[in-house]
Amino acid sequence: MSLDCPPSCPFVPDRSSALDFPMGQIRRFAPARAAGAGSAEAGDVDETKRNLLKLLAIAGVVGAAGGGLVGGTLQYAQPGLVGAKSYPTVQLIDVDGSPLTATKVMQEYSSATADLYLFNYPLTNEPNFFLNLAPASSGTPGATNVPGGVGPQGSIVAYSAICQHLGCIAPSISYYPPGTCPQTFKGLSFYIHCSCHGSTYDVTDRAANLTGPAVLPLPQVTLEWKDPSQGGDDSIWATGETGPAVNGHFNTLIGGYEVGATQTLTKDTPVILCHFGLPSP
Ligand code: FES
Repeated sequence: MSLDCPPSCPFVPDRSSALDFPMGQIRRFAPARAAGAGSAEAGDVDETKRNLLKLLAIAGVVGAAGGGLVGGTLQYAQPGLVGAKSYPTVQLIDVDGSPLTATKVMQEYSSATADLYLFNYPLTNEPNFFLNLAPASSGTPGATNVPGGVGPQGSIVAYSAICQHLGCIAPSISYYPPGTCPQTFKGLSFYIHCSCHGSTYDVTDRAANLTGPAVLPLPQVTLEWKDPSQGGDDSIWATGETGPAVNGHFNTLIGGYEVGATQTLTKDTPVILCHFGLPSP
């Protein structure tokens, strides 16, 4: 204890009652108070309140930053509504890397083609069958001038390769060439059939449902053929899609990443199982 303690010193016997404060509370005297100016309370600064305010301010800043961080994280953690703004125009490329032309398709693909040829459109997780329904030779069943068909015989079509029942994906759902199974539908011996539960689709009529349990047709990709007789280069393009939304997608354009400017066909082996559901009413 200092003997020359000033009047404001808390240790002098006649100290002001203003100096009494609860245990644990820190009180600091502002310079004006220490100089004796103003009232007893005017220059006091309550350090506990100040520290509390500081803590609240820091917590607010940290909370705001943390909130932004959490919010930003949640933004990416939630299922993204990624997709395409509109249907892209995409050129189809053959499995050998060359641009797909109708001339080439008519030479190399037909209703009898057993291997599956697939391409993704409009999103990278939406595979489609690429089919030429024209008969391979006389006597081989086929179809020409079908709805949406392009090429010199209107026989080149593309349908979603995701079943409209529970979403089995090619090759579980496959194109069956003529005579693959003994069943025929509307006189047709070739169709798209899903081995998962027996749904069947009419490749000659917008992939309409032939047997259940699926009730909806497969979405059909809109194809465009650059007709050489009209000055085109014989190339084939995907430009849109009709029918219901691709199974598993709220909207065909939402739920995946948009494909690029070209899409190359991939080859797969079909799953063959002659197990059919009930005919569609
Ligand atoms: S998923 Fe194709 S019939 Fe069930």
